[in-house]
Amino acid sequence: MPLTYISGTGSAVPSKVLTNEDLEKIVDTSDEWIRSRSGIERRHIAGDGETTATLGAEAARRALEDAGVSPEEVEFIIVATVTPEMFFPSTACVIQDMIGAKNAGAMDISAACSGFLYGLSVADRFVGAGQFETVLVVASETLSKITDWTDRNTCVLFGDGAGAAVVRQSPDGERGIIKAILRSDGSKGGLLYMPAGGSRHPTSHETVEKRLHFIKMNGREVFKVAVEAMGEASASVVEGAGYRPEDVDLLIPHQANIRIIQATAKRLGIPMERVYVNIQEYGNTSAASIPIAIDEAKRKGALRPGDLVVAVAFGGGLTWASVLFRF
Ligand code: COA
Repeated sequence: MPLTYISGTGSAVPSKVLTNEDLEKIVDTSDEWIRSRSGIERRHIAGDGETTATLGAEAARRALEDAGVSPEEVEFIIVATVTPEMFFPSTACVIQDMIGAKNAGAMDISAACSGFLYGLSVADRFVGAGQFETVLVVASETLSKITDWTDRNTCVLFGDGAGAAVVRQSPDGERGIIKAILRSDGSKGGLLYMPAGGSRHPTSHETVEKRLHFIKMNGREVFKVAVEAMGEASASVVEGAGYRPEDVDLLIPHQANIRIIQATAKRLGIPMERVYVNIQEYGNTSAASIPIAIDEAKRKGALRPGDLVVAVAFGGGLTWASVLFRF
């Protein structure tokens, strides 16, 4: 199969910022605790009129502009999110309409924080197989809408934002997606989830009273699995493709916790100078975290065409994924 590559990137985050100091006024926490345990200093929170689709559409427009592709040329849209506009229609359909991609099919992917890498991998196969020339992968989240702002165990960790990538056939057979690893362990789904609102616990007065429409997490257990899974997945994708850690120019990990990121880099054998970190600014934006990091790294010159990149994510499901690509 021919290689496919990321031909354009874009991102969009809300302008409204919530600092650790702001959170000190809402729950019993401190800037020192949040910084030392997670690495987070600020996060961006959707304001009035900002939703998963509006942020996703803005990121998508920027990615299309970056790639020099018109909305009409997009043949398929994949949106990764756990905070969709609604159950149906899919957020992908809402974004398809917003950006005027009138020739595109559209679907959502639910793989939590691994969603962008799952989506990128699906796009890679569609383009590689010749089904489509141009696929748009969007990851957008407004986790603030499902965050329990009375629960200090979770509310300090999450933020809102969106990232997008245009995927097309590689122009030179050098730049492109080399290998992907996609994994899951549904038996541990209860470590990180939103219990109600679906068919198991449909919305009722009781589910609302019990605060079951918010993120529930066993942080300590999630931490352990994340360190193991992200380390293993990133090392395997490099080794499996016949590369060595020293060949990797940049590791772009899911931005959930600086200590998980450091452990992943150590396991992979890459110094922190070659790891992209922006968790201090955005917190954990779930599926959006990696495409925001890719777009930002590119704009800052930390990611250049031809660089060998490992992107690795972990999240609810549980799911985890790693993708090796030459940018
Ligand atoms: N402010 C102050 N204290 C807090 C707090 C907060 N925001 N949140 C929890 N605490 C307290 C706990 O109540 C606990 O107190 P106790 O010992 O009296 O019970 C104490 O801090 C230590 O809790 P612990 O869970 O051991 O902290 P930790 O070092 O594991 O860090 C997390 C907590 C959540 C930051 C960490 O476990 C983590 O990042 N886990 C992974 C979460 C994640 O990434 N989820 C998304 C995956 S995509």
